[in-house]
Amino acid sequence: MQVVTEQKHSKDPYANQMARSILSPDFQYATSKNIYWDKLKNLPSGLKGLALTDHDTETHRGTWLSRFLSPPPDNRADAPLHVEIGCNAGHVTLEWAKQNPSSRYIGIDYKFKMIYKFAEKAAKFDVRNLIAFRANADRLPYMFAPGEIDFLYMFFPDPWEKKAQRKNRTADTEWLRSVAPLLRKGDATRGIFHIKTDHRDYFDFIVANLEELKDVYEILDLSYDLHAKHPNPKSLVIPEVTLFERLFIKDGLPIHSVKIRPKV
Ligand SMILES: C[S@@+](CC[C@H](N)C(=O)[O-])C[C@H]1O[C@@H](n2cnc3c(N)ncnc32)[C@H](O)[C@@H]1O
Repeated sequence: MQVVTEQKHSKDPYANQMARSILSPDFQYATSKNIYWDKLKNLPSGLKGLALTDHDTETHRGTWLSRFLSPPPDNRADAPLHVEIGCNAGHVTLEWAKQNPSSRYIGIDYKFKMIYKFAEKAAKFDVRNLIAFRANADRLPYMFAPGEIDFLYMFFPDPWEKKAQRKNRTADTEWLRSVAPLLRKGDATRGIFHIKTDHRDYFDFIVANLEELKDVYEILDLSYDLHAKHPNPKSLVIPEVTLFERLFIKDGLPIHSVKIRPKV
């Protein structure tokens, strides 16, 4: 398994621990003073099974489909698994999960509070086909086994605009390369990774990285203005657009979008 070794995301308390698996004897997730860290570790009974944090997001690699509070209908092993990176408080994932009861959803964000709020909302609406992960996207290869993810999404990743911050961007070539094996292969309708951003410089960075990885990924669809043909993009609502996307559309910013799939 290829893993991300670079130290990224300095805002994340575990930024210096990216290189090792939880199976390494010398690896342990750090504790945090964030009150939501404690809340996530000691979930009330109504939220149990709806959120996982840190170590627990890496313990069921390869068996996630069987870990949801509601198993897929008829326990189908081919129920699609959707994973959203940077899901915030789960606005999009929650709606998708409500609308598609036969699919399974995992939303990932490294903000403790957002993940706790996400689980609270899932419990409130009795949505049981999702799990919220408090985790860092850099550790994706530790969370999922090869071919386990049917659909992957990363919507409006933090752009890390300043030159000195750019090393923190998630979608660098090393990370994109490490994610490709996790996507399902051999089914033309699955294994798709969709990225959207309003940030032209980050988008150009991603497109350049994909050019470097042209032996790894094929580009299925690429747009510099996703909603150009829509008569009134401001009317779009979650989950067709994300929380941040709605704000960017309101500000008149074009949305950049790329869908990719690993080459077989
Ligand atoms: C700009 S917000 C976009 C939120 C949402 N996707 C939307 O479009 O409305 C970026 C989100 O990604 C999360 N995030 C950034 N880097 C991350 C990482 N390496 N791992 C997990 N979450 C991350 C942030 O905490 C934040 O919630």
